Amino acid sequence: MVKRPYIVGNWKMNGTRAMLTEARAINRAAERLVKVEVALAPPFTLIQPICKEAGLIGVGAQDCHAAEGGAHTGDVSASMLKDAGAGFVIVGHSERRADHNESDADVKAKAEAALAAGLFTIVCVGETETERDAGQAEAVVARQLEGSLPHGANAPEKVTVAYEPVWAIGTGRTPTVDDVSAMHNAIRAKLGEVYGEDGAEIRILYGGSVKPDNAAELLRADNVGGALVGGASLSAESFVGIIVAAAEIAES
Ligand code: PGA
Repeated sequence: MVKRPYIVGNWKMNGTRAMLTEARAINRAAERLVKVEVALAPPFTLIQPICKEAGLIGVGAQDCHAAEGGAHTGDVSASMLKDAGAGFVIVGHSERRADHNESDADVKAKAEAALAAGLFTIVCVGETETERDAGQAEAVVARQLEGSLPHGANAPEKVTVAYEPVWAIGTGRTPTVDDVSAMHNAIRAKLGEVYGEDGAEIRILYGGSVKPDNAAELLRADNVGGALVGGASLSAESFVGIIVAAAEIAES
């Protein structure tokens, strides 16, 4: 695992103010487990309250619009997220690619809007089960990276990549550690092609059914710099279990 592990919880469309108890408990764990960078991406409605109640963790959004503002009913721009206290935004999650037909070009435009607003961004990529079975996983992910990664002077410092095989999200199934290593090594090579030497420093998170009991082995795979966690981030107990696993690896 490279640098300080980065463990990010993606709450998806879950959470009301009742969940602030979980955020506070996660914040207390982050205070103790300083070797790990901890963040939450709650729904838009909880960004401000979590910033207020859990000041030691990063807080981000799960999506933004590519435009600065205007006639886009129901959308939220990157500068609005920044104004609400967010420090980063996830773009290109497979649920958005599938539910909202987001293309690589859309994802890139959102990532560039995030950078322009002064946010960090987590760019998600990952193959479907059919693509993996067809032996296409690395080619699909390489194509997504080429099309989705933002360009611009400060891009490499502000970008994190999350590799999330679609078939592992919310299913309880994960790739083997060897498959994770192979994919993360391939992503590292692609980041070098896109960003040159700066590509070596970019964190690559693994996501898809990360739990306290499989976190350590997944985090030990090659070029895994942390985890993007869905279901297991909804309770402080399980999310902190993952943070503890990352802290133990960071200390070893
Ligand atoms: P999961 O989701 O941990 O529930 O599989 C991961 C994600 O979609 O980011």
